[in-house]
Amino acid sequence: MSFQGQPAATVTSAARTGNARAHLFNDRTVDGYRLSLAAGVERVATRIARTERPFSGITPAALAPEITAIDLESPLADPAAALDELESVYLRDAVYFHHPRYLAHLNCPVVIPALLGEAVLTAVNSSLDTWDQSAGGTLIERRLIDWTAQRLGLGQDADGVFTSGGSQSNFQALLLAREEACVLAAKNSAVPLTKHDILPKLRILASEAGHFSVQKAAKMLGLGMEAVICVEAGPDRRMRPAALAREIDHCDREGLTVMAVVATAGTTDFGTIDPLDRIADLCEWAGLWLHVDAAYGCGLLASRTRRHLLAGIERADSVTVDYHKSFFQPVSSSALLVRDKSTLRHATYYADYLNPARMAEQRIPNQVDKSIQTTRRFDALKLWLTLRIMGADAIGELFDEVVDRAADAWELLTDDPRFEVVTKSQLSTVVFRYLPPEGPARALTDASNLYAREALAASGEAVVAGTKVDGRHFLKFTLLNPETSLDDIAAVLDLLAEHAGRYLNEQLSPEFRRLAG
Ligand SMILES: Cc1ncc(COP(=O)(O)O)c(C=O)c1O
Repeated sequence: MSFQGQPAATVTSAARTGNARAHLFNDRTVDGYRLSLAAGVERVATRIARTERPFSGITPAALAPEITAIDLESPLADPAAALDELESVYLRDAVYFHHPRYLAHLNCPVVIPALLGEAVLTAVNSSLDTWDQSAGGTLIERRLIDWTAQRLGLGQDADGVFTSGGSQSNFQALLLAREEACVLAAKNSAVPLTKHDILPKLRILASEAGHFSVQKAAKMLGLGMEAVICVEAGPDRRMRPAALAREIDHCDREGLTVMAVVATAGTTDFGTIDPLDRIADLCEWAGLWLHVDAAYGCGLLASRTRRHLLAGIERADSVTVDYHKSFFQPVSSSALLVRDKSTLRHATYYADYLNPARMAEQRIPNQVDKSIQTTRRFDALKLWLTLRIMGADAIGELFDEVVDRAADAWELLTDDPRFEVVTKSQLSTVVFRYLPPEGPARALTDASNLYAREALAASGEAVVAGTKVDGRHFLKFTLLNPETSLDDIAAVLDLLAEHAGRYLNEQLSPEFRRLAG
C-alpha cells in the first residue's frame, strides 16, 4: 500500500533500510514528515467523512484480543501498514465526539484551527517549563492566561498557568489554598504550630453537586477525602448559601479551619451554576479562599449573550477553566487562574539545573515556577490559533447554540409522557429517565433505564450518559455539538424508549416470569 499519490518506495525506503535515524524529524527528513502526516490526516479525514455512527458498539471482550495479538517486538516499518493496523485496533471502533449523536460526556467536537495548532505544537515540541525550551511559547501562553484572567475580571494581579485538565487545575488551586491556610493559621496562632498540627484541621467546603476531583485532590494533599464537607444543594442543584453559612459556622465552632470553598460554575450532571456572588459574599465575610470550578461553564466567557451567568466569578481567588470542554479544543487544554499571582509561589522550586533563582531575578520568563508539572505541552497554541483564526465570539456562538439546544431538549422531554426530566440546566446537559407505564413495570424503572443506555451504546446509534439522582438511575445528554439537531434528540429518545420498552416486555412476559420462577 502507498500513501496518497506517493510511490510506496519513497515513503518506506527509510524504514526498510532499518536506519533508525531516518525516523528522526529533522532538516533531512521533512519530506517523510510531510508524507507521513498527510497520510495520517487522510486516514482520519476519510474516517470522519464516513462515520455514520458515534460508536461501533464493540465490547472490550471483542476488541482486547485484537490489541493483545499485536506483536510489539515486530515493527511493521512501513507507516502505511501501521496505519492499516490502526484502522482495526483504534479508528474503526473509536468513540467519535464529532458525531451529532454522541451525547454523553463533557467531550466537545473540536475546531479545525485547534487541530492545526496541535499539529504544529507536537512537531516543534516546545516544552513550556523554561524560556530556554520554549521562547515565544512561554509568552504566548502568558498572553492567553492574561486574556482569560481579563475575561474573568480577576484584576491586575492575576496570573495562572495551563494544565492538563480540570482535575489538575482543581488540585493545584487547592494546593495553593492549603498552603495559604497553613501560613495564616501559623501566623494567627498564639503558640508555634507546625504543618503537622494544622493539616488535620483543614476542611474544604464544596457543593454536593461538585466534581469528584475535589475529593481526590484532598486525598493527594494529605488531608483525606473526609476533609471535604459536601454543602447541601437546593432542588435547583445549586449550592445553598444558607447551608454554606451553616457549615462555615459549624467548622468554626468545632475548631476546624476552612481552607477553601469550592463553588461550581457548571456542574457535571446538571450544568448548574452555584450562586457565585452570594458565595463570594460569605467567603469575603469569613475571610475564606474561594475557588470556582468553571471547567464546564467557562464557555460563557466567550458568549455575548450569557456572560452574566458567571457574575461573581471575578471575586474568586482561583478559577479552573477547561478549554477542552467548552472552547471546542482538543484534549488537553485547561488552565488555573489566580487573583493574586504571588500565591503561585507555592508551586515554585528553584533547581540549579533548570530554573535557578537568579533567572527569576533576571526576569527571564518561565512557567515552571507556576506549574506543578515540569515538561509541559504547548497546549496554549491550540487556543491561540483558534482565537487568531475564528475569534472568541465565534466560540461563544457555538457554545450558545448548544445551550439553546439543551433548553429545547428540556422542553421536548417535559412534553413527552414517556420520560421524566429533572432540573433545567443553565448550560447544556439534560438529565432525564424513561418512566415505564403505571403498574408492575414501574418497579423496573431503574433497570429499564440502565438497559436502554447499554443497548443504545451497543447498537452504536447514539451514546448517552447515565447518572444517579437521589439514588435512582437516570440518563443524561451532554450537548456540546452545535450539529446535534432537535430531530437527532427526538430520534435518540425514540430509540431509548424502544429499548426500554423491549426490556420491559421481556421481563414482564408470562414466559419470562415463569422461567424466573
Ligand atoms: C465540573 C468539573 N470539574 C472538573 C472536571 C475534571 O476535568 P478533567 O476531566 O479535564 O480533569 C470535570 C470533568 O468533567 C467537571 O465536569
